[in-house]
Amino acid sequence: MDDTELRAVASLIRDANRIAVFTGAGVSAESGIETFRQPQTGLWARYDPMELAHVDALARDPETVTRWYHWRFSKCADAKPNAGHHAIAELQRLKRARGGGVDVVTQNIDGLHQAGGAEDVIELHGSILRWRCQKTGSMRAIEEVDFSAFPPRSEAGGILRPDIVLFGEMLPEAALEAAERAVLSCDVFLTIGTSAVVYPAAGYIEMAISRGVPSVEVDPDATPMSTHMTHTLAGPSGDVLPRLLEHMGVGDDTERS
Ligand code: APR
Repeated sequence: MDDTELRAVASLIRDANRIAVFTGAGVSAESGIETFRQPQTGLWARYDPMELAHVDALARDPETVTRWYHWRFSKCADAKPNAGHHAIAELQRLKRARGGGVDVVTQNIDGLHQAGGAEDVIELHGSILRWRCQKTGSMRAIEEVDFSAFPPRSEAGGILRPDIVLFGEMLPEAALEAAERAVLSCDVFLTIGTSAVVYPAAGYIEMAISRGVPSVEVDPDATPMSTHMTHTLAGPSGDVLPRLLEHMGVGDDTERS
């Protein structure tokens, strides 16, 4: 990825009033959280999503599924937001200070955008940091869940499950509406670290493309959407995003003020 493309994207972002940032597992890869479809190392290369991440599997074997999600949480628990998360949060602060905005729409359930300082994050697939009682619908933070037995249960005796969207489940209506508003109102659309193969989430990339707004993909590898992008920045987001902000002169602004 040469600086010319980076500079072109930096000026796009600098001049934009509203930006929609759509992220997938790749934005958390540099925080040590494995992605899903990386050959050999991806989660789905080692586990069968239909056996562990499907609503029917939860109904059939709640012990195994809740135990697996508790294990997945243990992989996120020590993860820290990386430079890519921080850059997205910084961009959001910068745009808000100038009367604009950055809407962060994520497929990730790890909470790292929020930990990195981003606000009003739209979690299309929910969050592993929240667990929900299947009997009452009551929500609690994962720290309040007793994992001495699986499946964990609430005081009401209901099974507690992560507040995430399993395969075979509908995405939360409020998140879908917020994501659509974000994509329909943006001047520039960034897709970062997603293989763009899971719907309806990947449909937001198509929505942005069909609107004809400038679109940018940040990913070390090509995806099915790469050829439709205005710009593709082939590199890890933890490297590319801070460099984008540098090219926007964000660092200088901080020094000048
Ligand atoms: N920076 C940016 N992108 C990266 C990095 C990185 N450091 N490392 C890997 N990637 C890219 C990969 O090249 C790939 O395109 O991140 C993408 C990860 O793709 P997936 O593993 O398919 O993850 P994602 O697109 O988020 O999956 C979508 O599928 O399994 C479901 O619910 C799950 O939310 C998930 C959804």
